[in-house]
Amino acid sequence: MLTLQAHVDLTAANTLRLPCYAERFMAPQTLCDLQAILRRAAVCQWPVTLLGGGSNVLLPPQLSGIVIRPSLHQWWLESQGDDVVAYVGAGVNWHSLVMALAARGVWGTENLALIPGHCGAAPVQNIGAYGVELKDVLLGVQVVEIASGNMRWMSAAECQFGYRDSLFKHALANRVVITQLALRLSRQSNPKLHYGDLSSRVPSQPTPLAIAEAVCAVRRAKLPDPAVLANAGSFFKNPLVSQAHAERLLHQYPAMPHFSQPDGKIKLAAGWLIDQCGLKGWREGSFGVHAQQALVLVHFGGGDRAGLLQFAERVVSAVNTHFGVELEPEPRVL
Ligand code: EPU
Repeated sequence: MLTLQAHVDLTAANTLRLPCYAERFMAPQTLCDLQAILRRAAVCQWPVTLLGGGSNVLLPPQLSGIVIRPSLHQWWLESQGDDVVAYVGAGVNWHSLVMALAARGVWGTENLALIPGHCGAAPVQNIGAYGVELKDVLLGVQVVEIASGNMRWMSAAECQFGYRDSLFKHALANRVVITQLALRLSRQSNPKLHYGDLSSRVPSQPTPLAIAEAVCAVRRAKLPDPAVLANAGSFFKNPLVSQAHAERLLHQYPAMPHFSQPDGKIKLAAGWLIDQCGLKGWREGSFGVHAQQALVLVHFGGGDRAGLLQFAERVVSAVNTHFGVELEPEPRVL
């Protein structure tokens, strides 16, 4: 049964709590319902906006056409010896999935605990944390074309994953709905503990659950809980600069965190750059730079997307003036 709602308030459906009304809204729970509403949207020529957990989007005050939130909630495991493939519906909460897999002794996603959002959104920005990215465990994604309602599978290679990037942000932006993920996991112990001080926080032969819990503890200590203080996680991507640029900056700031990339570029820590500009904890009006993690912008209430973009622009401009580095927002501007 399709339930199409009109004039729906999406303020509580985005973790930044930006005020937004959708002209129409639907949360299909099956592939058939999704295909039916896409075909209707095509006939009626309604522009389609897709929403997952709302944790990485910047919503405008009004969205015309139809907002669709895929709510396919089934997931299951198929085992072959130690290998496990998880098939996961787009509407499953990512963190719940990670904890359920870890509790079953299945390895692969434990470093990605406590990342907010729905599984269907995870491939869009190739979510990553503590040395693991979604692409490391993704076999493929099932997608439905918005224009035709047709379903197909894409391999991980076809998705062209990069750092917080994929084809879903470029050629396939607003063209497909991600409906299911296939993840390649394992029952064989495979801890990835090289990032930061993660190894000192777990026992010497950790279970996936011990690692997931350690990651949760680290994240809780420095990232604000969106249920308490509205935010969208990292607001900026970590910028890439040339080796020459990094060397000039390192001459002036020898303690600057920097990470060499396979392509020769150097990744800098946006949080560190913002912090060095003295902006950590800075607040103006409805928005602020989080006091524990300068990479996160927070919304204290009463603001909207235009106000947030203005606030972010001042952070970008301060970092540009100090370091000659241009920060790019991570959340998608819908
Ligand atoms: N730093 C500061 N001041 C700050 C924040 C960071 O000096 O206010 C320094 C830290 O001391 C560290 C460096 O910057 O030397 C990097 O910081 P951190 O290890 O906290 O990681 P990050 O680069 O800030 C990235 C991801 C996070 C992910 C963490 C852990 C991006 C944009 N962010 O943050 O992802 O959880 O690594 O892997 O890549 C998210 O995408 O929403 C997110 C939280």
